[in-house]
Amino acid sequence: MFEIAPSLLSADFTRLGEEISAVRDGGATVLHVDVMDGRFVPNITIGLPVVRSIRKITDLVIDTHLMIEEPGRYAVEFAKAGANMVSVHVEADPHIHRTIESVRAAGARAGVAINPATPLSVLDEILNYADFVLVMSVNPGFGGQSFIGPVLNKVSRLDQMIKDRGLSTKIEIDGGIDLSNISEIVAGGAQIVVAGSAVFGGGDPANAVRSLLEKGTEWV
Ligand code: DX5
Ligand code: ZN
Repeated sequence: MFEIAPSLLSADFTRLGEEISAVRDGGATVLHVDVMDGRFVPNITIGLPVVRSIRKITDLVIDTHLMIEEPGRYAVEFAKAGANMVSVHVEADPHIHRTIESVRAAGARAGVAINPATPLSVLDEILNYADFVLVMSVNPGFGGQSFIGPVLNKVSRLDQMIKDRGLSTKIEIDGGIDLSNISEIVAGGAQIVVAGSAVFGGGDPANAVRSLLEKGTEWV
């Protein structure tokens, strides 16, 4: 079982409500919202007001991916704005245990996000506290980049690490995922698959989600 989380970054912002309805019709269960501050990553995107607006019009799970400096200052605000999942980059937060606990106390699922060049060993002391790990398969900042191949092996190793500890931590993967690679990504252990350009780039987001869901189960 896996879920598709369309990344709204590639949606048409002038028609956000329609885009959300379309991906829901296609079978998406999670909406991935990329929050960028122009400091942790070179791009600036959207923030709390947009999350509050989306919350009013959908019952889908809202998954906020915080690509920001000092995430501890804002993580709880995103949970209060209506996010059901909040992920924080381990590279941006020296107090990630505190941040994760605060997100969980606010009633949202807390995730640790890791960049492609960040080793799994950084998760050693925090894995047991996280509801999910967001494994980046591109360098964060932009949609439409190519999947970094060796991340597949990282997902499998993380899957094993989670099983070895008897945890139920979910693995989310983000960046460069499309019909060409989703089967092996799901077979490798990813349970939440983010897709931006593969969902919104072709003009029929509902059908794109359907195809990804179908293709993703091919090897499992
Ligand atoms: C990248 C973002 C991703 C991005 C995915 O920094 O975190 O969520 O929108 O887009 P695609 O699927 O086009 O790589
Ligand atoms: Zn993302």
